[in-house]
Amino acid sequence: MSICYLEKERLFWLDTPHSTYLIGIAAKEGFLGHVYYGQKLSDVSGALSLLRLSEPPFTPDVNDRDRSSFFDAFPFEYSSNGVGDFRESSLRICCTKNGQDAVSLVYKKHEIQKGKGKLIGLPATFGSEEEVTTLVITCEDPVTGIVVELSYSTFEDADAIARSVRIVNGSDDAVYLKKVMSACLDLEARDFDILTLHGSWARERIQERKPLGHGVFSVASLRGESSHQEHPFLALMGKDAGQDRGDVYGFHFVYSGNFLAMAQRSQFDQVRICMGIHPENFCWKLDPGESFQAPEVILVYSSEGLGGMTRSFHDLYRRHLIRSSYLHKNRPVLINNWEATYFDFNAEKLLDIAKESAKLGIEMLVLDDGWFGNRFDDNRSLGDWQVNEEKLQGSLGELVSKVNALGMKFGLWFEPEMISPDSKLYEAHPDWAIQIQGRRACRARNQLVLDVTRGEVREHILAQIFEVLHSANVEYVKWDMNRPLTDLGSANLPADRQGELCHRYVLGMYEMQERLLSEFPNLLLENCSGGGGRFDPGMLYYSPQIWCSDDTDAVERLRIQEGTALVYPLSCMGAHVSVCPNHTVGRSTPFATRGQVALAGTFGYELDVTKLSDEDKVCIPKQIRAYHALNEHIREGRYYRLASSLEKRDFDCFEIVREDEGAALVFATQVLATPNMRSRCIPLQGLCEDAKYRIYEVSLEKEELMEDTENVVSGGILMHAGLILKRPWGDFKTQLLYLERIS
Ligand code: GLA
Repeated sequence: MSICYLEKERLFWLDTPHSTYLIGIAAKEGFLGHVYYGQKLSDVSGALSLLRLSEPPFTPDVNDRDRSSFFDAFPFEYSSNGVGDFRESSLRICCTKNGQDAVSLVYKKHEIQKGKGKLIGLPATFGSEEEVTTLVITCEDPVTGIVVELSYSTFEDADAIARSVRIVNGSDDAVYLKKVMSACLDLEARDFDILTLHGSWARERIQERKPLGHGVFSVASLRGESSHQEHPFLALMGKDAGQDRGDVYGFHFVYSGNFLAMAQRSQFDQVRICMGIHPENFCWKLDPGESFQAPEVILVYSSEGLGGMTRSFHDLYRRHLIRSSYLHKNRPVLINNWEATYFDFNAEKLLDIAKESAKLGIEMLVLDDGWFGNRFDDNRSLGDWQVNEEKLQGSLGELVSKVNALGMKFGLWFEPEMISPDSKLYEAHPDWAIQIQGRRACRARNQLVLDVTRGEVREHILAQIFEVLHSANVEYVKWDMNRPLTDLGSANLPADRQGELCHRYVLGMYEMQERLLSEFPNLLLENCSGGGGRFDPGMLYYSPQIWCSDDTDAVERLRIQEGTALVYPLSCMGAHVSVCPNHTVGRSTPFATRGQVALAGTFGYELDVTKLSDEDKVCIPKQIRAYHALNEHIREGRYYRLASSLEKRDFDCFEIVREDEGAALVFATQVLATPNMRSRCIPLQGLCEDAKYRIYEVSLEKEELMEDTENVVSGGILMHAGLILKRPWGDFKTQLLYLERIS
């Protein structure tokens, strides 16, 4: 078992393959203290001294006079509120009996189990009894009767710990939960940098590293979704940590709504991390005996820098979070009509695209927005999920049959959580929109958000979607969400439960996706939110892929995909080749470059093939050939970041290693050319030192996929000295190398 309790020491010892996490029970009362998280230990003797319980004035058992000194410095495993710890609290409640909100937790009991239970209604990591061990520590506040179950799961085959929290109201009166963090971690004094992923629409998940100073630093979303702007992730990095060395602690929230991720550096330089549902606009009523399940946080410690952290997240998500049967499969190469036609299409146009695509080897046509109701533009009809047979010049079934007859699959776009004020649905049920009575709700893209906290709303929307999907052979759905939540009012919730709206919304949306998947178990689901506005681990539980960004420009995509791959496997990044000048930034890049950048994701096209030049068109079958030849390697391999275009905006390079197969792929992109320079020398990672590798150039344009460069180099030279990469002539040029292990 990778978790045990040392009775004498009152110490919980949790091991992952390369890390150790220790929790101690301290003082007479039994406060739960964080003792250690870091490099794996084989002997933990004396660990409890790290809690410094005998160091005046931080001595709770002897110094009652100065208990606040103890409370304000003790490394709590789950911090209290209002009793003397002035750092960030993990839990804030309001007792209806007396209106008071202090809470202080002490150890009650614990249980160590094989396996891991489900978090009812929430996405979460999973694993068999052989793969996962779970520790549940029950704490209690003896004054309020509030019970807190802290849950920790460790994985045999992934360097990660999944934490979550369940609150039970053990009192005789209702309480309001005003804040419930899913994880709190107090680390020893240390000079850390903090790394986050910030962004905007079309600029999602850009890395930013800065020193963590005193006080509080936080990233958050109050948009009702995890958001384009800030990502539910942060990492603490030792000052000397880089891609391949140093200590890194990564935290990622398995949730798709409002979140708060904060790091606080105290007066004694200790660092507290808290992550959970954002307390703003959150107030959850808990009647006596009821419980509240908070979502899960994933913790990763790496002593091998960011790269080690990345690979641990990838391992965990591939093995223990993504459920879809498509996870380990090549996805059909799709063509999406959005950038090809926007709203301006009919069946004839779609079939023209499909015919040309089929000839080129494209495998699925995805019909994006505009096929339903009166949706000739983005001002109307969301909520009216009836096929517009006039526009489609027949039924959906007829269109899909024709596409299938070309040998192609068919996919369809929905935006199930939305309602247009100009729709039949709104006419019939204006109260189904989230809005506040007497206040004109803020429009975004001229639409409002449906109150999917309501069962009848979910039923109505799903019934319509199911009818459409049963009427034709639809094998893929793109589930979009194009605006944030505002005007937080539900016509259905009583006044003292309005603060539950945002979380109930997320639960309602999860339930809808779960129902869709159980009705259509073979469906390939891709999530999307105005590009990558809801790209989070929670959504991965439902869909094996998520549309990464509405920005399909190959150069912009380098940094978007770099930030995304920091925590997500490449197999879940929706990436397509689109036309130039690019619709978002107006940049022109070579067709081969767009192909190579998209190959690092799920791969597809988002353009009108009937208008493409012959020169570009002949590349499509070659790109598809490369996708099929290399996708398994890209999808399943281990990812190493070698150079970042964020640094000088001139060069991007990463490597994917499959040591089991004895091969590596090196993706390189020269963003801007520099005159009069020698070739680049790039040290590789993850190879076998003593092996020899034969180097091939992979071409997305030539007849032969691989060309032998006749260079054979040892793993040791490649890793410790480097791989020599010629500098291509021109801007935005890619190189793709395949290294075959020959000894
Ligand atoms: C969002 C998506 C796009 C497209 C449009 C359709 O912006 O990100 O890919 O589906 O909606 O309205």
